[in-house]
Amino acid sequence: MSTPPHDIVFLTSEIYPFSKSGGLADVMGILPLTLSRLGVRVAVFTPFYGRLSTGQYPVHLVYENCPVGYPWFDSTADIYMANYHGLPVYFIERGEYFDRRHYYCTHKGDYFDNCERFIFFCRAALCAIRHMGLGTRIVHAQDWHAALAVAYLAFWRRTDPFWAGMRTVMSIHNLAYQGRFSYRLFEQSGLPHEAWNMEGVEFYNSFNLLKAGVAFADRITTVSPSYAREIMTPEFGCGLEGILTRRKADLIGILNGADYAIWSPQHDPVLECTYSADQPEGKKECKAALLQSLNMRPELADRPVLGFIGRFRGQKGIDVILESIPEIMALDVGFIALGEGKAEYEAAMMNIMEEYPGRVVGVIGYTEEISHLIQAGTDIFLMPSRYEPCGLTQMYSLSYGTPPVATAVGGLRDTIIPYPQEGANGFVFNEPTRESLVQAVRQAVAVWDDKAAWKTLQINAMRANFSWEKSARRYMQVYAGLHADLFAQEGGAL
Ligand code: ADP
Ligand code: GLC
Repeated sequence: MSTPPHDIVFLTSEIYPFSKSGGLADVMGILPLTLSRLGVRVAVFTPFYGRLSTGQYPVHLVYENCPVGYPWFDSTADIYMANYHGLPVYFIERGEYFDRRHYYCTHKGDYFDNCERFIFFCRAALCAIRHMGLGTRIVHAQDWHAALAVAYLAFWRRTDPFWAGMRTVMSIHNLAYQGRFSYRLFEQSGLPHEAWNMEGVEFYNSFNLLKAGVAFADRITTVSPSYAREIMTPEFGCGLEGILTRRKADLIGILNGADYAIWSPQHDPVLECTYSADQPEGKKECKAALLQSLNMRPELADRPVLGFIGRFRGQKGIDVILESIPEIMALDVGFIALGEGKAEYEAAMMNIMEEYPGRVVGVIGYTEEISHLIQAGTDIFLMPSRYEPCGLTQMYSLSYGTPPVATAVGGLRDTIIPYPQEGANGFVFNEPTRESLVQAVRQAVAVWDDKAAWKTLQINAMRANFSWEKSARRYMQVYAGLHADLFAQEGGAL
């Protein structure tokens, strides 16, 4: 396990396998680890939630009563640590903020003190870097929860020699979530008043945490090249397209990868039968087992079964799928959805399930195991996202030989080669509408009926390789652009 200095420190609100509500956790569970395997001295800071799954990675106290400073004069945080395959993961513990049932919200809405919670998280992580002598040179913040760290550093390094050499990277995983709060909370944040302006943290009179990160970071990254372009437009910029365009020279799109140690049918321990591009036969058994376990009609073994895994939110286009079900079911197929989210979509899913007994199953909730079983046991993966910064589930579905049918946005555009192009591994359509989705599903089902064509598509899908190593090296270039000497001793690891 690497000991300080930790040149690069990630700040994240989620990290798999300790905490997870979506793709950010998956990325944090593998990107820092890949960097550390490439010789980068890296560590991660994350909140110590009540629901932390520490499992096989024991967590122990490493620093007690770390002072967090203004505006919490008397406030301290306890810092715990786990060794995750050699990667130090530090947990910020403060029961009143993080020891709760959920990470960010309950079914009634966001926690009322989210701003305070994540101000605390950012300040505590930075104070820990200082008090624990971690020797950090770059702070790499993920999404709005960590963005304030970037803004603090921009000001602290002007006046405090300790921070003078610190550089910052802000990664955007989803621009739709910005963390917007009131001016009163800006005053409590401890940022100087000069930060309150249109080129700083102010956004239509609100305190915008992600904007703070975008405004003050030395570099801004997002999780696919297409999304990097899209967020500079009004359609996808969520109001930040102006400042992002002004920062274009520092905005970089780096495609996420897939963690094939976890998401590969060749060695997936939960599957009925493992399989691979060279020996794909086992997929049929996975499908049969899935149909049986969900009490679905056995005849579906000979018809395409469509899958959806994701948050039941507008972003993912689950409503578009629900609207399209009558036309999709007319194609004599099955459909399995896994996820949770907006109550109205969950209810609609349940109604549809009753209308098509044995042919449509909605599993409301989420477990990793069911997610793997659906990736392996379905034939076609639906992803009609309205926007998609990167998207990991389509990379996983490709790996499991379940070609995606997806909108041509963001990372979906960057990862799917659409039929009938040479090397096709899936299907894309332009508008997230019922008509477009149904048309694309019809096309996919028609190709499925042509066994030879489908096999080629499936093999192409399984052979796609979204390597984290390649992406991690791109991040190393970004870091090296901020501190040229960082990887000098690695003898040109870049
Ligand atoms: P996003 O992060 O926008 O939800 P991604 O495709 O990047 O989408 O990543 C989703 C990840 O989260 C996958 O590992 C997927 O299996 C998982 N996932 C999907 N739905 C849920 C859910 N409701 N709760 C927790 N994890 C989920
Ligand atoms: C976000 C995005 C998703 C992306 C993930 C990880 O949750 O919605 O597209 O894959 O972050 O970067």
